[in-house]
Amino acid sequence: MKIGIFDSGVGGLLIAKTIRRAMPKYDYVYLGDTKRVPYGNRSHETVYEFTKEGVDYLFKKENCAIVIIACNTASARALREIQQKYLPNNFPRQGRDEPDRNVLGVLIPTAEECAKYKKVGIIGTTGTILSNTFSVEIKKLNSKIKISQNSAPILVPLAEEGEKLLAKPFLVKYLKPLLAQKPDAIALGCTHYPFFKSEIRKIVGKKVKIISQDEIVPKKLKEYFERHPEITKKLAKNKMARILVTDITKNVEKLTSQWFGRDVRPELVKL
Ligand code: DGL
Repeated sequence: MKIGIFDSGVGGLLIAKTIRRAMPKYDYVYLGDTKRVPYGNRSHETVYEFTKEGVDYLFKKENCAIVIIACNTASARALREIQQKYLPNNFPRQGRDEPDRNVLGVLIPTAEECAKYKKVGIIGTTGTILSNTFSVEIKKLNSKIKISQNSAPILVPLAEEGEKLLAKPFLVKYLKPLLAQKPDAIALGCTHYPFFKSEIRKIVGKKVKIISQDEIVPKKLKEYFERHPEITKKLAKNKMARILVTDITKNVEKLTSQWFGRDVRPELVKL
């Protein structure tokens, strides 16, 4: 069986790449819903519906043992419902310990990291910030923490166009209200934002910790696998990786090779 990674588009490849680098022996299938991206400005119901279809495809057509939802918007808006409704309906528990399949998101590992600080600023898509899920999850772990959030919608298209320089004034605009609160950490709550990490570092200065999912998610997933041998024992170890997308364009091909690697070409699938 494989490890599935789901995202609304190609941004999740930045996380998929570092997950694969951390655990190269496993087989990976990435599914990017490039036909319906972006999810960031869609309703809760639509994000759930689309995410459920993607996750269902990875489990049923690709025989994944576990699916990581790399998309923050989908993690914020759909993960809980997928875990509480979709999984028990489609893969009822066989024993009392663990479900047969599992779905994890990127939001909880990020929240765990944020909870270590006193004051944290978060940027994400409009959907992620409006859902307030980051704040709710972080406060469960650290009720005293001060959290400030800002949506940064323009950054996704700028990352896909490779526009680091053009993004600078927008990064300043989005980060300024967060920096006014003097945070000790800034969390990048969207798949695409690691692309701007060095620009963000220049703006926030050396002392502020940047919480970036391409660094923390592989680490947390590795720890999760160590605690769950019942999952890893089901995983094939052929070092294989495939990238599936729901629409192929020149840009999707370009970003796949830039953000994941030249050795894997995207394949078109229908959900
Ligand atoms: N993958 C999305 C996220 O991490 C960004 C792109 C989108 O809006 O679909 O929130």
